[in-house]
Amino acid sequence: MDSDMWDERYSTKEYVWAIEPNQFVKEHLGSLTPGTAIDLGAGEGRNAVWLASLGWQVTAVDFSAVALEKGEKLAADHEVSVNFEQGDARTYQASEPVDLVVLSYLQLPTADQTVILDHAKTWVRPGGILFVIAHDESNIENGYGGPPSIEVCYTVDRTVSALEGLDIVTADVAERTVETPDGPQIALDTLVVATHPSDTTR
Ligand SMILES: C[S@@+](CC[C@H](N)C(=O)[O-])C[C@H]1O[C@@H](n2cnc3c(N)ncnc32)[C@H](O)[C@@H]1O
Repeated sequence: MDSDMWDERYSTKEYVWAIEPNQFVKEHLGSLTPGTAIDLGAGEGRNAVWLASLGWQVTAVDFSAVALEKGEKLAADHEVSVNFEQGDARTYQASEPVDLVVLSYLQLPTADQTVILDHAKTWVRPGGILFVIAHDESNIENGYGGPPSIEVCYTVDRTVSALEGLDIVTADVAERTVETPDGPQIALDTLVVATHPSDTTR
């Protein structure tokens, strides 16, 4: 989907996604000492706003201007400040290293995933964290919701390979329970958490 299609998708009065942070973002990042962060493909800003509420200085990047407007509203409603920036994740570059980079359901074709992860790992300062949560390929056959095209799904192995040079802390297919009118369903996500080694000589 290009940015016009995403603008169209976001052009509802209601939020398209939940306004609460993703459960794995909350679980893995909630106890970190706040610093600087980039949320790439931030959408309506649910994760960025939550991080900002914890004291993080967040730059939330998305190529949809409509998503960013909704993110600004969400931030205002929560009385937090987030730096919303319009940018294309495939070419965006951080102006300086940050303590945390978040990619949350940025579902782009495999070749783009590799480019983006390759860029994103260079933005993490020594000791910092790169956090990836995304619809896993196995979700197509065995999970609920998510994109119907395997081409834009992630795998744990591919994500870990793309993050060579970082230390992998968590690399799992994570099960996420989705409440639906037919009862709870399980979605399968690629979850990878990596840290930039503090020892930069290796
Ligand atoms: C599934 S939504 C996830 C939004 C948010 N991260 C979340 O978890 O709620 C994917 C987001 O990626 C954005 N996106 C897709 N391709 C992009 C690109 N090439 N550059 C920047 N943003 C992009 C879309 O506009 C959309 O907001």
